[in-house]
Amino acid sequence: MSAPRKVHIKSYGCQMNVYDADRMADLLAQEGFCETATATDADVVILNTCHIREKAAEKLYSELGRMRPLKQAAAREGRKFAVVVAGCVAQAEGEEIARRAPGVDVIVGPQSYHRLPALLARAPQEGLLVDTEFPLESKFDFLARSPQIGRRPPVSAFVTVQEGCDKFCTFCVVPYTRGAEMSRPVAAILAEVEDLVARGAREITLIGQNVSAYRGVGPDGEAWTLGRLLYAAAASGRLARLRYTTSHPGDFDAALVAAHRDLGALMPFVHLPVQSGSDRILAAMNRRYTRAGYLRAIERLRAARSDLAFSSDFIVGFPGESEADFQESLQLVDTIGYAGAFSFKYSARPGTPAAALPEQVPEAVKLERLLRLQAAIARNQAAFNARCLGARLPVLFEKPGRHAGQLVGRSPYMQPVHVMADASMLAQTAMVTITGLSANSLEGTLVPESNRRAAHGERETCPG
Ligand code: 5AD
Ligand code: SF4
Repeated sequence: MSAPRKVHIKSYGCQMNVYDADRMADLLAQEGFCETATATDADVVILNTCHIREKAAEKLYSELGRMRPLKQAAAREGRKFAVVVAGCVAQAEGEEIARRAPGVDVIVGPQSYHRLPALLARAPQEGLLVDTEFPLESKFDFLARSPQIGRRPPVSAFVTVQEGCDKFCTFCVVPYTRGAEMSRPVAAILAEVEDLVARGAREITLIGQNVSAYRGVGPDGEAWTLGRLLYAAAASGRLARLRYTTSHPGDFDAALVAAHRDLGALMPFVHLPVQSGSDRILAAMNRRYTRAGYLRAIERLRAARSDLAFSSDFIVGFPGESEADFQESLQLVDTIGYAGAFSFKYSARPGTPAAALPEQVPEAVKLERLLRLQAAIARNQAAFNARCLGARLPVLFEKPGRHAGQLVGRSPYMQPVHVMADASMLAQTAMVTITGLSANSLEGTLVPESNRRAAHGERETCPG
């Protein structure tokens, strides 16, 4: 029997890409491939790319430069070595990649990767293959049924429920790279959740570019909302934790808000990107809500569940952003008291309306604003973490820690928590008293005898 071929997958960008990378690994496992951690001993390297900002896209070209000597070495040894560019840069810049990077064998967009095994089989005879269509069939119908053959899923696993976006924020490439909104049917999602839970996952994050716009067909033939889907996913009772990301502040309907009130498994932490605190800039971004509207969404959620915490995304230096506009973003960070947030300098993306706007903000101004915003976010994050000190939080243990006898888990607020605990507690939830803080994580001690009660009693855990 010949040795299995090896595939190395490097994924950039968002959680959708992490999910896609795993699905590509599943598909290739069915073809006899196993995964390898390095490119050097691989037969196939897949670069699963991100196009959201210029810097993310540039990484592809430097990575392709590193592939060239590997390909030459393989050729000298008489081995085949295929390079695949997948993901959103493949979709957006397929032609340019083909021109700039001669060593590439397959270029495949995010909606076509179910065709990857066939493309890889054809490439040696046919040369460079480019598949960046939006095919009529859905890739989800072709993915391996029981994913991750022979591998246990992680304690915390992702399930894509929705893909693409119809919102057309003026800065964003997603509607062009991932295409129109598309929701998977309820039954397919619930089957995948069941399967992951049966094989050891304890936390499921339902992911999508715009997950709050979920409208998948339900078993009753109706279009279900995300709220309804969350109730159904929680109903099995075997799932310790449920999350969803990323949502749009304009989409919070009553069912989604009520799910936060009713579902103990739904974690009290919502990533709700605001992008800017200025109404003028929000309008120019085509975000379809105002600052007051965003604050109302937060209030409705907090009214449903008082221990909710929020994180966000911000863009600084959007075209036309004045110092006064920026101040409104800065103030919003303190008004909400985010538990954390990501912030980015505006990056003009080819083909998006904002890239053509006249008043582009100078790079130095963007950087200076970014640093001020990051300082405000860090201050709020530190204050949030400090409020956890002395609190009891349920922690879902995910992996061994760096020190012997230590485990690392996550709080409901996604904070990593280091605890001295027996390895038998992996994949379990236990109550932990938070005793210390470090830069990006918490330390704690197990609350004695509390393990069983904690698994279903996560609500008593508000950090205040
Ligand atoms: N420039 C900077 N940041 C961007 N994002 C999306 N497009 C751009 C862009 N052109 C950020 C948004 C989004 C996150 C995923 O990336 O904040 O929420
Ligand atoms: Fe991009 Fe806006 Fe859609 Fe989010 S909602 S993916 S920022 S277009």
